Amino acid sequence: GFKLAVVGGGSTYTPELVDGFARLRDVLPLAELVLIDPAADRLELVGGLARRIFARQGHPGRISWTADLDAGVDGADAVLLQLRVGGQAARHQDETWPLECGCVGQETTGAGGLAKALRTVPVALDIAERVRRRTPRAWIVDFTNPVGIVTRALLAHGHHAVGLCNVAIGFQRRFAALLGVPPGEVELEHVGLNHLTWERAVRVGGEDVLPRLLTEHGDALADHLRLPRALLDRLGAVPSSYLRYYYQHDAVVAESRGRPSRAEEVAALERRLLEQYGDPALDEKPELLSRRGGAFYSEAAVALTASLLRDTGDTQVVNTLNRGTLPFLPDDAVIEVPATVDATGATPLPVRPLEPLYAGLVAHVTAYEHLALEAALWGRGGRRADRAGGRDAVFSALLAHPLIGQTDRAGRLTDQLLAHNREHLAWA
Ligand code: G6P
Ligand code: MN
Repeated sequence: GFKLAVVGGGSTYTPELVDGFARLRDVLPLAELVLIDPAADRLELVGGLARRIFARQGHPGRISWTADLDAGVDGADAVLLQLRVGGQAARHQDETWPLECGCVGQETTGAGGLAKALRTVPVALDIAERVRRRTPRAWIVDFTNPVGIVTRALLAHGHHAVGLCNVAIGFQRRFAALLGVPPGEVELEHVGLNHLTWERAVRVGGEDVLPRLLTEHGDALADHLRLPRALLDRLGAVPSSYLRYYYQHDAVVAESRGRPSRAEEVAALERRLLEQYGDPALDEKPELLSRRGGAFYSEAAVALTASLLRDTGDTQVVNTLNRGTLPFLPDDAVIEVPATVDATGATPLPVRPLEPLYAGLVAHVTAYEHLALEAALWGRGGRRADRAGGRDAVFSALLAHPLIGQTDRAGRLTDQLLAHNREHLAWA
């Protein structure tokens, strides 16, 4: 069996992951699971439940937990990153101050996403460096948002990393249910960047059934995404729910004002979840956990980790280097597409030329991600971390973002971002 370490293992999401490890032990046999987290109280509650889930399902693997990253990852075959720097409190900030400038407040999209990237990239790189020292052949599976930028940072620094998100597997399961076929038979033509993707085809037995899905279930799909049915019909594709922040930006801003943030909702949910996790009689993931956005992420994690560690060479939707797949993007951009995954990592499958309707936005956001990463790396690697230079880097990334783009707005957002994140930015 393999040894797996989860950084951010004290997350309330962890029981979802552990449930997947227990159910799917034939796909990915685990001898040892280590949950790593600085929050000792959470770790105790989550770790206890994790052990009971394994016990109930008769899983022989050993589960332990620690705040000591170096000891925890020692000898691991794979390390899952699912951390959140600053917790829900920082997320709440990301989701609120951009609204004052008329911009969407979201933890991965727009100015809030940049703030999260700035806080997270240095931490993720430090962790990856320590993983490399302790267990150089380990794979890093990155769930940490913003996944595109964090994965790009890891790959740019030579780490063995693959980025993962549950949007694709969520669509695969949803389409399978609508079609009445097993999920494994549904192949997605999924293309774009993390949280900026479209399903361009849905193949079952080689046949594209997306036109039929749109005709028969277009209203249900549109309702679920909270997008107009007419847009889906016009695109002939199914955008990820994150495209709503683009296609209906101003409406999202208007409806967000005066409403609790998602971070506040999640914080309340987490309090109840942790209370439930503390119940020694609970030995499965509770129903309440389905109110979080992580559906199927355990299946995705098990499948990807198994392919990496067992050299399966099957196809999975992941975040990895472009390397010419989308020829209008730089090779070192990170894209989210179906890829062959084996012990050497992820290799994107060829992608049909992307229509201008999507290509423009993808190119635009890729350029933003490049600048976001530059800002996040500000002051690292011996560069002089002066404040003015850092501020310029943040401003440039915001100016380059398709949802921002105007100089006054980018300037105000820069001030807000810095004011709310000073404690997380070494140079600010
Ligand atoms: C989806 C996204 C994740 C994101 C999550 C948020 O799963 O793919 O990247 O972290 O939603 O869910 P939450 O319950 O925290 O709002
Ligand atoms: Mn995601």
